Amino acid sequence: MLILLGLIALLVWPIFGPAPALLICCAMLGLALYRERVELKRLSTWLLAPKPESVPDTGGAWTQPYVLLSRILRAQRQHESSLSATLQRFQLAGAAFPDGLVILGERDEIEWCNPAAERHLRIDLRRDAGHQITYLMRAPSFVEYLRAENHPEPLTLRFEREIDRPAVLSIQTVPFGDRQRLVISRDVARIEAAETIRRDFVANVSHELRTPLTVVIGFMETVLDMKTLPPAVERQLQMVMEQAQRMQRLVEDLLTLSRLESADNPPAEDPVDVPLLLRMLYDDAMALSADRHRIVLALESKAWVRGSIDELRSAFGNLVTNAVRYTPAGGEITLSWQADGNEARFEVRDTGIGIDAQHLPRLTERFYRVDRSRSRETGGTGLGLAIVKHVATRHGARLDVVSKIAVGSRFAVVFPATSILRPATGAGSGSTDKAA
Ligand SMILES: Nc1ncnc2c1ncn2[C@@H]1O[C@H](COP(=O)(O)OP(=O)(O)OP(=O)(O)O)[C@@H](O)[C@H]1O
Ligand SMILES: [Mg+2]
Repeated sequence: MLILLGLIALLVWPIFGPAPALLICCAMLGLALYRERVELKRLSTWLLAPKPESVPDTGGAWTQPYVLLSRILRAQRQHESSLSATLQRFQLAGAAFPDGLVILGERDEIEWCNPAAERHLRIDLRRDAGHQITYLMRAPSFVEYLRAENHPEPLTLRFEREIDRPAVLSIQTVPFGDRQRLVISRDVARIEAAETIRRDFVANVSHELRTPLTVVIGFMETVLDMKTLPPAVERQLQMVMEQAQRMQRLVEDLLTLSRLESADNPPAEDPVDVPLLLRMLYDDAMALSADRHRIVLALESKAWVRGSIDELRSAFGNLVTNAVRYTPAGGEITLSWQADGNEARFEVRDTGIGIDAQHLPRLTERFYRVDRSRSRETGGTGLGLAIVKHVATRHGARLDVVSKIAVGSRFAVVFPATSILRPATGAGSGSTDKAA
């Protein structure tokens, strides 16, 4: 256009002189400028609601930018529609998900939740988005659970029977995105009910077996006492007697486990003189070992704990019995009791057969035995450590196990500071007391 303008001016100049040539030049430049302004205006009008199908059809130098703009718009539109399809899929999946999902922001404010979470936690996303979840769910255990840093175990929440809300919820939090958290709520009422049926069934069967077994054992004792039996029959009856006694131990252990699991049997909170308990266990260990092992009692603390003496005796006793059973003759077994400001620790160390690392995670399962034949030989039922674990949990304590095959094992029940009681006057004999 500028070239055309120059050519016209050059043509006009020799005929009409410089002034008309300049005038024509100015007029044409003005016209060109006006056209650009009109195009710019059209562009800004189009940009108010840009649609690729309504791109202005201008021609000239403006065509190329408009084509590029419309291409960018089309790509953006495709991207948007695929994003919204993904979002819709995600929302549908969230809505169909049977578990409740809540996304919490940095201050525990509700960012998003699915319908199941709305039902479980009585939230209304439209009304409550942006509010802290603890304003709406005020159960102290829930508030406490959210405040804690790590949550290895899910929290169980129970509610009064309500329409449209499960009676038992399992709550778990998972770190999510950038300082956000995902709260997952799961209806576990049915699982709990099934668990109760299982527990009751085991307890009932064990209870029903107890009486006939007592009768059988009593009868066998009478027969064996008669001393008039032929030796072969006596041997066989002895074997029957051993098996019956094994069954009796099994039944007793199952009943103990049922009692420990029962929700209406809260743990006792009596003061337990652990040093005295350990002395008794030491005597039991000496009797069971019958001089086959060197047994050491290391009472390094006089601390007592709050709990149930019967449960602790049964749990500690199992650890001591295991150490004696699974340590070959000549080995060493140490029972120790230590306490500091943070925790108290009952530990049984042995130089026995040890346990391979692969078995350690499953050791506290019912009936789990590393070597079934060996355990059966020693009269084990495989319920001992399950009882220990339950007792520890009921006392707020944890069970630590370290073991190496052919080197030995270390089983420790570690009590939190809140369970430790300091006796007013020490009663230790021949022991040092670090904690007092
Ligand atoms: N101190 C130990 N050294 C080596 N293995 C052990 C030790 N303590 C336990 N175990 C292994 O763990 C298994 C489970 O122990 P647990 O006490 O639960 O059962 P148990 O001793 O076989 O039977 P019981 O129910 O009579 O105690 C044992 O069978 C044994 O294989
Ligand atoms: Mg045992």
